[in-house]
Amino acid sequence: MWDYTDKVKDHFLNPRNAGAMDNPDAVGEVGSLACGDALKLFLRINAQGVIEDATFQTFGCASAIASSSALTELLKGRTVEEAERLTNKDIAEYLGGLPREKMHCSVMGEEALSAALKNWRGEAAPQAHAEGELVCRCFGVTDVTIRRAIEENGLRTVEEITNYTKAGGGCGDCVPRLEEILAEVLGRTPAPAPAARPLTNLQRMQKVMRVIDEVVAPSLRKDGGDIELVDMDGADVLVSLRGACSSCPSSQLTLTDFVQKTLREQVDPAIRVRRA
Ligand code: FES
Repeated sequence: MWDYTDKVKDHFLNPRNAGAMDNPDAVGEVGSLACGDALKLFLRINAQGVIEDATFQTFGCASAIASSSALTELLKGRTVEEAERLTNKDIAEYLGGLPREKMHCSVMGEEALSAALKNWRGEAAPQAHAEGELVCRCFGVTDVTIRRAIEENGLRTVEEITNYTKAGGGCGDCVPRLEEILAEVLGRTPAPAPAARPLTNLQRMQKVMRVIDEVVAPSLRKDGGDIELVDMDGADVLVSLRGACSSCPSSQLTLTDFVQKTLREQVDPAIRVRRA
């Protein structure tokens, strides 16, 4: 169980400024429901560049709601220039601290603010993952977010990066890249890659789902077919072929020479694909 400060509990149970805003001057939206957290920040900014009002809509945990509430309180009455200097540390400090595993909620607040101010200046709304290299596919985190979190918060380990950005907290594929980025930012030589560890069932399942969604299914759809992951039992993967693939005479070849081969190459050489 997380150890929340009284202020975090208060802002979670009684969030300030929750809800959408009619005709806002700026909107900043970050995160996605698929990644577990999403925040939409609305700002009303007067002609003098003072933030007169700030509201939010958040999907996420208690820390995400408390961080969003704190952010809006911090913003009201500040000039845009002052708001630009706010970081996730200000949000966490305002709340009397956040559990280290939840610091990513404060980072989400900083990102939403940055997106809203870009929106106010008329700069193109950042497309998902458009800024920088997409490093963590599980949580949609770019190197820009990771580098900023390292620099602003003095992070020293990959575990800390995960706490602040969620990157690395899923399948773990991005961990070597996180090590590289950490080394680049800190100006040190990357640690040698650890010996590959066998996949856990959860990691194997996440990877199989991703490869089917991003590689196998799009390729089959080009020929009018499709595929659905039905179940997994260890290295056994049960799938159902759909569309043109379901009645194709060479569907067994599709399963072994394409689906199984791809999963073996990209996930685990031990994988066996069977028709459900
Ligand atoms: S790609 Fe980063 S945790 Fe899966």
